[in-house]
This record gives sequence, structure tokens and C-alpha cells, in this order.
Amino acid sequence: MRRMIIAGNWKMNTDLASGTALASGLAELVSGKELSVDVLVCPPFPYLQAVRQAVGESGISVGGQNCYFEPSGAFTGEVSVGMLQDIGCDSVLLGHSERRHILKECNGLINKKTKAAIAGGLRAVLCVGELLEEREAGNTEAVLDEQMAGGLEDVSAEQMTQVVIAYEPVWAIGTGKTASPEQAEQAHAHLRNWLASRYTQELADSVRILYGGSVKPGNAMELLGQPNVDGALVGGASLSVENFGPIIEAGLEISKA
Ligand code: 13P
Repeated sequence: MRRMIIAGNWKMNTDLASGTALASGLAELVSGKELSVDVLVCPPFPYLQAVRQAVGESGISVGGQNCYFEPSGAFTGEVSVGMLQDIGCDSVLLGHSERRHILKECNGLINKKTKAAIAGGLRAVLCVGELLEEREAGNTEAVLDEQMAGGLEDVSAEQMTQVVIAYEPVWAIGTGKTASPEQAEQAHAHLRNWLASRYTQELADSVRILYGGSVKPGNAMELLGQPNVDGALVGGASLSVENFGPIIEAGLEISKA
């Protein structure tokens, strides 16, 4: 049984006060509960340390939204894997569609970052997903295959224990248009088959595949209930305890069943 992950990607939102208040609110929400799912929050870099402190020993983990692949040096504006670990992060999001499409990150760069994150001991959450025109042209699976092959080039089966995949159809991100549970399940099953053919069925069965794209309290149960959906990567609805709380609760409920 794969342990579910409920992750919040705060993107370029919150400020110091609201970010720490959100983190404290989430810590309070989970306190005293048996956390049968992994809960992860990914705030902007400047607030990572304060958020790490605010979640304390609640069991909520903190991750970066990106990192660079070199350990140190003249890379203005970049943040290394070691720096993230230094302030208590255990995870990093990589290849998010906003970085692919707005910041023009290619599969080669994402692959270098993924390998650096793994080598440094972080959990790498590799995001993949197709554009609307790619879906409409019937190219969803080809796009996913290319992003998986590119992002995971030279990543060994052993290293895959540190990798989580997030399927985020770009047309569903921030649009209010969620993939239907059937669409999500179909893409997740495809990704798992890809993992089985590249590695082994056993490995494919152990890798967690999260769904992201307009996940809200109202649709979380149904999405998380799909057999190949092992959690959620939540953007907008992760910015308040009122919205993210029920999504965590949905994960806890399903993981009990
Ligand atoms: P929304 O939940 O706001 O659609 O964002 C999804 C996302 O991009 C999470 O990484």
C-alpha cells in the first residue's frame, strides 16, 4: 500500500506573517492526529526557514519549489540542494509546468536537478503534464513519456525510492478546470505502466503519483479515491487552512479505508 502525500505548492504567494500563520494553523490541525499520510508544504524560498520553525514537530514536512544542480558557486539567484537541507527541507518540486513554460526549463535541466536532489538526499517531486493543445491533438501520452524519459534519464531503480511523480495537466492548473477522476486515473495508470516498462512492475507499484490541477475540498475525495492516485499537489487551495485542511482530511479518510 502506497502512503499518500498531500502537498501544498504555495507558488509565489503569502508573506512572512501569513505564511507562518498558515504553517502554524496546519500544525495545529494535524496535532494529536495519527498522520497516516505525508503532508508537505512548499513555501517561497524566503519563508522556508520560518515555515519550518512554525510546523515544528507536527510531522508536516517542508520543501523547496525548485533548486539548482550545482552545490555552490557563481550561480546568481539560485539555491542549492544543500541549502534546502540546511534549513530542514526534505523535498523539492522539480519540473513544475510554470518553470517549464514560463521559465523555459527543459527536460535536460530538470534531469540534472532531479539527480542532484536525489544525490543530496532530498525527495524529488518530478512534475509532468500536457498542455491543452497537446491533449486535444491526442498527444498526452507522448508528452508524458518524453517528460518522464527526460526527467528520469540515468536515474537508477534504487534512486527511484526518492522520487515522487506529480501529474499536473497544464490546462487544469489554476483554471478551476479539474481533470475528471477518469482522466486523472487514465494518465496515472499510463505513468505507472511507463515506470513498469522502464524499471520493474514492483518498482512501478511502489512509486507515488500525485495529481495536481484545481484540487479543492469538493473534489479531493473523488480524485484521491482513484486506484492510481496516491495524493495531491495543491496550489490555490493550499493557501488556507479552511481549504487545505479538508484535503488533508480526505487523504486521511481514504488511507484508513
Ligand atoms: P492549482 O491547485 O491552483 O490549480 O495549482 C496546481 C499546481 O500547480 C500545484 O503545483
